[in-house]
Amino acid sequence: MSIQLNNPSLLQTQAFIDGQWCDADSGKTFAVVNPATGETIAQVADAGQAETLRAIEAAKAAMPAWKAEPAKVRAAILEKWHDLVMANQADLAKLMTLEQGKTLAESTGEVAYGASFIKWFAEESKRIYGDVLQGTPDRRGIVIKQPVGIVGAITPWNFPNAMITRKAAPALAVGCAMVLKPAAETPLSALALAELAKQAGLPAGLFNVVVGTDAPAIGGELTSNPDVKKVTFTGSTPVGKLLMKQCADTVKRTSMELGGNAPVIVFDDADLDAAVQGALVSKYRNSGQTCICSNRLIVQEGIYDAFVEKFTQAVNNFNFGNGLEDGSTHGPVITEKAMNDIHAKVESAVAQGATVVAGGKPKGGNGYFYEPTILTNVDSSMRVFREEIFGPVAPIFKFKTEQEAIEMANDTEFGLAAYFYSENLSRIWRVAESIDYGMVGVNETAISSEIIPFGGVKESGQGREGSKYGLDDYLEVKYICIGGINK
Ligand code: SIN
Repeated sequence: MSIQLNNPSLLQTQAFIDGQWCDADSGKTFAVVNPATGETIAQVADAGQAETLRAIEAAKAAMPAWKAEPAKVRAAILEKWHDLVMANQADLAKLMTLEQGKTLAESTGEVAYGASFIKWFAEESKRIYGDVLQGTPDRRGIVIKQPVGIVGAITPWNFPNAMITRKAAPALAVGCAMVLKPAAETPLSALALAELAKQAGLPAGLFNVVVGTDAPAIGGELTSNPDVKKVTFTGSTPVGKLLMKQCADTVKRTSMELGGNAPVIVFDDADLDAAVQGALVSKYRNSGQTCICSNRLIVQEGIYDAFVEKFTQAVNNFNFGNGLEDGSTHGPVITEKAMNDIHAKVESAVAQGATVVAGGKPKGGNGYFYEPTILTNVDSSMRVFREEIFGPVAPIFKFKTEQEAIEMANDTEFGLAAYFYSENLSRIWRVAESIDYGMVGVNETAISSEIIPFGGVKESGQGREGSKYGLDDYLEVKYICIGGINK
């Protein structure tokens, strides 16, 4: 299949190292597959450890001059990168839909979301402040902030653009260089971003993209190389734990944005229509494949039946189809394996007594489509309560009291995002403060943007991305003591 773009320079299939496009040393390539059709849409260079090492060396050579530039010089290049991303929004969205499956509307939205991080951090980089400490009469302490160093970034397939810019923009804005390994399922969006960074005038070696299927080889180099000072990762909790262990030997800083198990709690006093709408948006965004998708709908008994009825009506109007086609409301899941894993969780819930109210199986045909699914008669012993589903499956649990809802919400090792619906102000404060999550949406599930600190607690990770806090993850604090000032 040939991919037609308005700007053909965005279709890149080689690794991007030191400002150059290059094949894998082995000459090998790997296939990028459209999950809506099962067709191969591109062959991409299958780079590994040696190419990663070269990328780190390029970053090492490029970083000193970049770090020495005034913030406004770095910001101007990032602003240009942002403008180019937005000018090429339609092409970037098309590439994303082809390799990831989400609908064109969702991809178009993600490109803008991704670009917003570039603009935000270009602006924020001019506002990095330090402190002067005046504790003793004859000396002063000065606190300055400096770039952490070369950053290794490993990004997921579910947001092939925005999860890259949310890391690369703050890193570059403060003066770091980056070596990025994007997910092997979605390399084209990452490579197109690199091409636009080059066109924006970003000097060679600052943003390197190593594409490849040998994650242990690429990740192994990024986590063990002493020149890499920080590793930032978005992905599953088991892989995050492994990377943290690997980073321990060289005591690297890490930022981990890991798995979630988000509850949406709907209290009897909620605005029912708003709660149904919020739960739908959150559950089925990207066909259920976001870390902050609601995983468990937890609904109070007085409103339960009405909620299930309205929620089911809306789900029955969804049209899961090829994201490039008009009328598709949702796309496929990423791979056949993902589809089978989702189905195994549904089958296991059904074997334990769950009722399938809608969907319940793969759609069949070409592509990796899973029917939008609703389960009732579910309980906390089931995999759909304990594990991240990462697919379009909504188990709806029932609770009696506020305390029970809080306990259910917290009954998980994860702590990324949680949501609840209530019109009672006292309850809103009580519950928001009692649930152990890094982000809480009250009467709202669309909580993401560049201005908010995105991140989790417990086994959902550490560090924050976006917002003014997102810069801190790429800065070291240095204390300088100046003595003898009364001489
Ligand atoms: C994610 O799934 O990790 C990102 C979702 C978002 O940024 O809203």
